[in-house]
Amino acid sequence: MRCKHVMATVLAIETSCDETAVAIVTNRQVKSSIIVSQIPVHSRYGGVVPEVASRRHLETINEAIAQATAQAQLDWKEIDGIAATCAPGLVGALLVGLTTAKTLAMVYEKPFLGVHHLEGHIYATYLSEPTLQPPFLSLLVSGGHTSLIYVSDCGDYKTLGQTRDDAAGEAFDKVARLLHLDYPGGPAIDRLAQKGNPQAFSLPEGKVSLSGGGYHPYDTSFSGLKTAMLRLVQQLEKNKQPLPVADLAASFQDTVARALTKRAIACALDCGLDTIAVGGGVAANSGLRKHLQAAAAEHNLRVLFPPLKLCTDNAAMIGCAACDHLERGHTSALTLSVQSRLDLTQVMQLYQKN
Ligand code: KG4
Ligand code: ZN
Repeated sequence: MRCKHVMATVLAIETSCDETAVAIVTNRQVKSSIIVSQIPVHSRYGGVVPEVASRRHLETINEAIAQATAQAQLDWKEIDGIAATCAPGLVGALLVGLTTAKTLAMVYEKPFLGVHHLEGHIYATYLSEPTLQPPFLSLLVSGGHTSLIYVSDCGDYKTLGQTRDDAAGEAFDKVARLLHLDYPGGPAIDRLAQKGNPQAFSLPEGKVSLSGGGYHPYDTSFSGLKTAMLRLVQQLEKNKQPLPVADLAASFQDTVARALTKRAIACALDCGLDTIAVGGGVAANSGLRKHLQAAAAEHNLRVLFPPLKLCTDNAAMIGCAACDHLERGHTSALTLSVQSRLDLTQVMQLYQKN
């Protein structure tokens, strides 16, 4: 159970991919949040270059910390813990944030916490809905993950559905490249889709067959959809036709949104959960928002989307998760390292009980 009377203030760092982010959070309230995006640096390569990301984090992190502490107008004495994302993500990038957090924890003699990036995405919803309490269903849709998680409590998660291949965000980014759009592909497809016809092309939704027959009710597969888009584009280019990019973007986005909506609604209903909290970069997608909100209303379910700036990577969500762990007496050893992969169900491995 949450201790209702304990307030914890945490300085959190997020450097798992291409944003250098620092935030100060008191429980479910953001005191300051700095996000320095590396998108302009990576866009010329069409994707994140890990080595470049690590170097950029190193160059940016100190200034981001200075800005976050100045904006929150808090003294180090008022900070109860220092947290950083430690998994999953790019190892070199994670190391910058984690090493910085450990150093601050040692210098200021504060507890240190390593945080699971996906637990952070789940916690983004608490920042906009501070009264939300588990259990609820979390639909996590980011550049690296697509899963349906039963959230029982802080640190207590069960994966009910997941992608068998590409993550939703990864599919958006790859299809955007096919359509010659800029990186990151998700927002580019989303913008174009507003001008296109979502029924222009019929695309496979990516059902996952079960060995005993039928289909998995909650798992997704986006590789077939991606291949269908590739064939379609190749065909259109062979016929020397100009690519109907808006219609292609709208049809693709609609197919992904419908697939995710169908599975999230079925999962929530089957589990008797009345709330779906969406997290991760693809939670910013307008097509997903539209379809999921309409379907949830039809089934009397509540669907919660964090504001756009909390959907994509930020440190406020990492701080919010860390506050909950700290309140429960969970802290991490200073020997904790980074991990490129770590299942969300293993999150309690990161903590030692005081
Ligand atoms: O959560 P996030 O910022 O980083 C990861 O943890 O992966 O998610 C980034 C992903 C990228 O694949 C990006 O293309 C996608 O989220 N994304 C979107 C939108 N905004 C970001 N996908 C679809 N529609 C959007 N509006
Ligand atoms: Zn993320």
